[in-house]
Amino acid sequence: MKISIISGSHRNPSQSEKVARHVEKTLQQNHAIDTWLFTLADNPLPLWDQSLWENNADWNERLAPIKEQLAASDGFVIVSPEWHGQVPAGLKNFFLLFNRFELGHKPAMIVTVSSADGGAYPVAELRMSSYKNNRICYIPEHIIVRNVEKVLNENAADNDPAADGYFRERISWTLGILKAYAQAMKPLRESAELHNDKFGNGM
Ligand SMILES: Cc1cc2nc3c(=O)[nH]c(=O)nc-3n(C[C@H](O)[C@H](O)[C@H](O)COP(=O)(O)O)c2cc1C
Repeated sequence: MKISIISGSHRNPSQSEKVARHVEKTLQQNHAIDTWLFTLADNPLPLWDQSLWENNADWNERLAPIKEQLAASDGFVIVSPEWHGQVPAGLKNFFLLFNRFELGHKPAMIVTVSSADGGAYPVAELRMSSYKNNRICYIPEHIIVRNVEKVLNENAADNDPAADGYFRERISWTLGILKAYAQAMKPLRESAELHNDKFGNGM
């Protein structure tokens, strides 16, 4: 089983990437799952443009290795900071560039990140508007890492012990649920005609 983690902050370094790396380590060590982490730090992907739909060689070459990793994944963790009450533009761009053949009918866990007590808006935004055409399936459990600077740091002295323990335990438990969905949904994808070009986009 393989789970890919997308770190949705453009900042480098970012707290979202710190959280994404903790998720990666937890998947490997607590759940024996192979991982692939893709970070949007420094904007590795150009903004969508029309040539993407015109079989553009540059786009094809750039996206091919990422598509390969995503297509080989059984599930995803989408890590998003809250930026001005929104998901960062680069993460929304990610959802324009990858589609049902990579993400479709696979479970995904949302993890949002805030330096204060925000983090609810990107959960709502992802659940509302990032799945229609790519058919990613968000599981009901999600994580909102509030006051992120005080948790999940490698140096224990930087952590608030109570909050840090809570998030480590809850993240691991939720990843166990994601794993169960990933196991259950693999045969599901093989048991139905998922891709119909007549209905290539969701309604
Ligand atoms: C452009 C920008 C806008 C932000 N807006 C919000 C916000 O609306 N709500 C919030 O809780 N935090 C906001 N923050 C602070 C982030 O929560 C903080 O930077 C946190 O570390 C997560 O972002 P990061 O993964 O990019 O580090 C904002 C940060 C940036 C860079």
